[in-house]
Amino acid sequence: MSAWLEYARASHGATGFVGSRLVPALLDDGHDVVALVRDRHRYDPPAGVTVMQGDLLDENFEHALSDVAAAYYLVHSMRDSSSFAERDRSAARNFVRAASESDIERVVYLSGLGSNESRLSNHLRSRREVERILKRGTYDLTTLRAAIIVGNGSAGYEILRQLGERYPVLIAPKGIDTRCQPIAVDDAIEYLTGVLSVPETADDTFEIGGPDVLTYREILIRIGRATQHRAPIIVTLPVDSALFSGRSVALLTGVSHRIVTPLLDGLDDPVVVTDTRIQSLVPIDRTPFTMALERTIHSDDPQNQ
Ligand SMILES: NC(=O)c1ccc[n+]([C@@H]2O[C@H](COP(=O)([O-])OP(=O)(O)OC[C@H]3O[C@@H](n4cnc5c(N)ncnc54)[C@H](OP(=O)(O)O)[C@@H]3O)[C@@H](O)[C@H]2O)c1
Repeated sequence: MSAWLEYARASHGATGFVGSRLVPALLDDGHDVVALVRDRHRYDPPAGVTVMQGDLLDENFEHALSDVAAAYYLVHSMRDSSSFAERDRSAARNFVRAASESDIERVVYLSGLGSNESRLSNHLRSRREVERILKRGTYDLTTLRAAIIVGNGSAGYEILRQLGERYPVLIAPKGIDTRCQPIAVDDAIEYLTGVLSVPETADDTFEIGGPDVLTYREILIRIGRATQHRAPIIVTLPVDSALFSGRSVALLTGVSHRIVTPLLDGLDDPVVVTDTRIQSLVPIDRTPFTMALERTIHSDDPQNQ
């Protein structure tokens, strides 16, 4: 047991898709966990978690950082507002200020994958901006960049799952043939917990992904086959994905257009791992896409999907 495990871990964004799975994993690893949530009445914590209420935009959260050695930063405002970039910028600045005045030694941030720095979507640009802001703190920052995380409740995956499962025929923009490297939520959690006990990962940025590189078309086909025993017929229109109507995809999927529109905007850019160093620093048995997909279909417990 390394000295790190003697301290509490704080998780900011504990109620979200990733955070709600990370907290039990940290407890299982023997950590004391403090979860910062905006509304404690909407959070049912696993036994043993200390819950602190606070909002990073209101600067009333500093109390959650005392006696904490490492923090996970999983805050994202895309569900809240279409001006998510501004909110995420302010939240990150407030966190850096408070964390730099605390005893926090390490921060782990889960960011977005995307190799074409000059042509990032607004959503990815905002995720990278948060990386740069978090780097200004006095602690060591580890950034993990991921593409779509496969698990029920994951915004990007939900859109694909609803489309592939519900519709036998789909009309898609040309970005449907862009390559991406999804990762099973269990694998993402293993990387997130794993980096804490590997000092070489401190103060560095890594890319995480599953073993399969697939186009969005291939993902939809696999979802259709796994859920409906048929592959959807996908007709491609020669238009940029950003010109495709986020509101119509939102209607088709039931996912808010506030989430669909920025994600659609990034569909034309490949999101594939180019830096594989994490695989030797935190060796894990990566889950094939089809297995990750099956897990989301066959488990009713959202925490296990
Ligand atoms: N899901 C994916 O496929 C995926 C892929 C790549 C990277 N990531 C990254 O993983 C991280 C977490 O994503 P997620 O999918 O778990 O997002 P999520 O489900 O939308 O969760 C976002 C979390 O941020 C919290 N939050 C928002 N504004 C806050 C504020 N002002 N103060 C305190 N907490 C606030 C929310 O708390 P409330 O419950 O109070 O709303 C929620 O717990 C993000 O950095 C995202 O970019 C996700």
